[in-house]
Amino acid sequence: MRIAFFDSGIGGLTVLHQAMKLLPGEQFVFLADEDHVPYGVKPREEVLGYVLDIADFLVKKNVKAIVIACNTATSVGIEELHRRYSLPIFGMEPAVAKALDRDPDHRVLVIATNITCKGKMLQDQIARVDKKGLVDTLPMPKLVEFAEAMNFNGPEVKAYIEKQFAPYDFSQYSTLVLGCTHFNYFKDTLREILPANVHMTDACDIVLSRLASTLEEKGLLEQLPKVEPEYYYTDRPVTDPKELARLQAYLDRLEQVDKIK
Ligand code: DGL
Repeated sequence: MRIAFFDSGIGGLTVLHQAMKLLPGEQFVFLADEDHVPYGVKPREEVLGYVLDIADFLVKKNVKAIVIACNTATSVGIEELHRRYSLPIFGMEPAVAKALDRDPDHRVLVIATNITCKGKMLQDQIARVDKKGLVDTLPMPKLVEFAEAMNFNGPEVKAYIEKQFAPYDFSQYSTLVLGCTHFNYFKDTLREILPANVHMTDACDIVLSRLASTLEEKGLLEQLPKVEPEYYYTDRPVTDPKELARLQAYLDRLEQVDKIK
């Protein structure tokens, strides 16, 4: 049986990319809700509707686990998905605790979508772990649009990042938390703009290790032949070679920026 990953768009490929390395014996389904991207600037109820439709669709495909490879969709829908389904379902969460564990004395800036920044999931995590008031959140919704348009380092991308970062004194910060799976594509551009004392992190490794250990506990880990993931745009299988090449180009981009911290 396959493991499903989904996102509003191509952001979730950042999680799939790591999962393919960590679990080479598994087969994957990846669904990008291209009809409805971006999620982060829409009303929560509307996004919840999309998330429930996708989960129904994936459960009917008989997958063995679902990873919500999207912080926004997790923030809006994970509790409802856990109520509705008994299969293992995992969500993303901005890596605030991880950032403060690594450096408890310097500030942390979380960049994410509007929904994630305002949402209970992130606010609760901050209230739980940020005892010294070191964590700031900054919505950067335009990066989602730039990522969907495959514009990772054009002048307008750099100008947008510089403008958003201008109010922050980065000498006070140790970590930039990538709280949206679309943002990993910009690691080289962000690295150019950020001073060397600021390191980037995300929760991908945490989520995937939860996935791997749950599958192991339940005896669901497999050693299947390596095949390409089954891709969907919303509910349509992606078979057009041009679109498959588009998805591969995103995976190549991730490989290129993988080691940048
Ligand atoms: N990739 C998504 C996330 O991790 C959301 C992007 C969007 O659709 O706004 O939050």
